Amino acid sequence: MPRRLLSRQIRPRPLDDQEIKQYLRVYNARGLYHHPETFPRLCSQQLFENSAPLELEVGCGTAEFLCSLAAREPGVNFIGVDIALRPLHKAVAIASSLQLTNILFLHANFSQMYPLLEPRSLRQVYVHFPDPNTRPKFQRRKMVTPAFLEAIHPALTSEGELSLMTDHSALFHEMLATVEADSRFQKTHAERYLIGFEPEVKSRFQRIWEHHGLPILRLEVRKKQP
Ligand SMILES: C[S@@+](CC[C@H](N)C(=O)[O-])C[C@H]1O[C@@H](n2cnc3c(N)ncnc32)[C@H](O)[C@@H]1O
Repeated sequence: MPRRLLSRQIRPRPLDDQEIKQYLRVYNARGLYHHPETFPRLCSQQLFENSAPLELEVGCGTAEFLCSLAAREPGVNFIGVDIALRPLHKAVAIASSLQLTNILFLHANFSQMYPLLEPRSLRQVYVHFPDPNTRPKFQRRKMVTPAFLEAIHPALTSEGELSLMTDHSALFHEMLATVEADSRFQKTHAERYLIGFEPEVKSRFQRIWEHHGLPILRLEVRKKQP
């Protein structure tokens, strides 16, 4: 099945109003374009009304991985951003069934959210299995670009890390080259990149691509210390 159809296979259960109110925020494209200042900024204070550390997954999809982190670390806040609503409804159902109080899902195009990033607010950013967008007309939809790194760098805490992974070899090597060209980041590992990832709970797309026998290619970087 083509990658772009995989999200359509998701069948979330109906959500009640309380679950939507608790877990889902909409950052609509028109509002973000014209008045980004009217939306809560991406920091614990504005989204959770506390000062706990914050982790972000860009393109979280159904968020099995992020929800498992939130369940394991109740003293940390988590936000999952996705441009598609259907996987987010599934993510909300998972968070609700685990009764999580430290996770929120933002329905938004992340590339429009750069003005809402707060300096030194994110201790971890995950971009796991981003859409490859290999067709020429979709090039501008790529997630990990020099502009993305420009936005994420100041938003990371001094120890903050960025985790990138995909099964798609061409996309991985493109992301690797983009990150390696940015001298403000350094790898957290001695190897040029890592193969495999064994979290307690794997994301939906990690499970799909591993089932197809594809190796998971991974890169972790942090800000270079001054
Ligand atoms: C292949 S899925 C991976 C989902 C999840 N990270 C996982 O590992 O299962 C990629 C996700 O990125 C989302 N996405 C693509 N472009 C985006 C954007 N500009 N802003 C936010 N989410 C985006 C898609 O809707 C999709 O849910």
